[in-house]
Amino acid sequence: MSAALIDGKAFAEGLRAKVGVRAAAFEAQAGRKAGLAVVLVGEDPASEVYVRNKGKQTVAAGMESFEHKLPADTGEAELLALVERLNADRSVDGILVQLPLPAHLDEQKVIATISPDKDVDGFHVINAGRLAVGLPGFVPCTPLGCLMLLKDRLGDLSGKNAVVIGRSNIVGKPMAQLLLAESCTVTIAHSRTRDLPEVVRRADIVVAAVGRPEMVKGDWIKPGAVVIDVGINRVPGAEEGKTRLVGDVDFASASAVAGAITPVPGGVGPMTIAVLLRNTLVAAHRNEGLELPADAI
Ligand code: GUN
Repeated sequence: MSAALIDGKAFAEGLRAKVGVRAAAFEAQAGRKAGLAVVLVGEDPASEVYVRNKGKQTVAAGMESFEHKLPADTGEAELLALVERLNADRSVDGILVQLPLPAHLDEQKVIATISPDKDVDGFHVINAGRLAVGLPGFVPCTPLGCLMLLKDRLGDLSGKNAVVIGRSNIVGKPMAQLLLAESCTVTIAHSRTRDLPEVVRRADIVVAAVGRPEMVKGDWIKPGAVVIDVGINRVPGAEEGKTRLVGDVDFASASAVAGAITPVPGGVGPMTIAVLLRNTLVAAHRNEGLELPADAI
């Protein structure tokens, strides 16, 4: 392995510590803690783990966590009514509805009901539009975390060739917008892209967010490129009955060629919640009309 390891776990810890300091200052100024409401519908085990971790880390950062767990058969009207109540609740600065929702619920309708000023996930079309036109708003947590890691590693990104593999609303599209705003030359690749290895070979920055285990191979990577692996895939392990986590990048071969690479686990994963806490603190300041310097967190 020649690539430097990008330690997202350590970066996320540092970010959470900075959020903690600012959250305490917010509480002193506002006379209340910043608050994050998380809504979980149903019993998806992975979502339950995320929600538990979000709650723990929110409290550890000195903020209030409001958890709303609803049964899988919750009706749309009931869920929308809860979101409306949270929109109106002054102690709630950020609202996150855990996705995916059970199939009978319309995710777009639920997201559209969240107040854009409390949409700390950055999923509302208003915030997607703000990102697209360069206005301040909330940016989805995972791609913003990836951008932080890239800027920490590379400094100025302008003029770099960036390839984003994946075009989801949660990662691929906002990632491309963020890189474009940093003056990268951005290519969005996806399942219909022709000759993907050749497209990736041109990239100084590769962000893989496709959800296919170890798809991106080392011989696709330009020597010295920075590789950000958003994938979290569970595959059969070496031992019978055991599983292991792998990314969308074949770490063994890619780390022999790349200049720097995020591991899985311990790379992008821990950044998502840290950025969520950051977004919640930003929302809290905006909701109270308080100043938070742009470079504070
Ligand atoms: N499910 C997987 N990732 C996310 C996320 O960042 N936000 C929400 N709301 N749901 C998710």
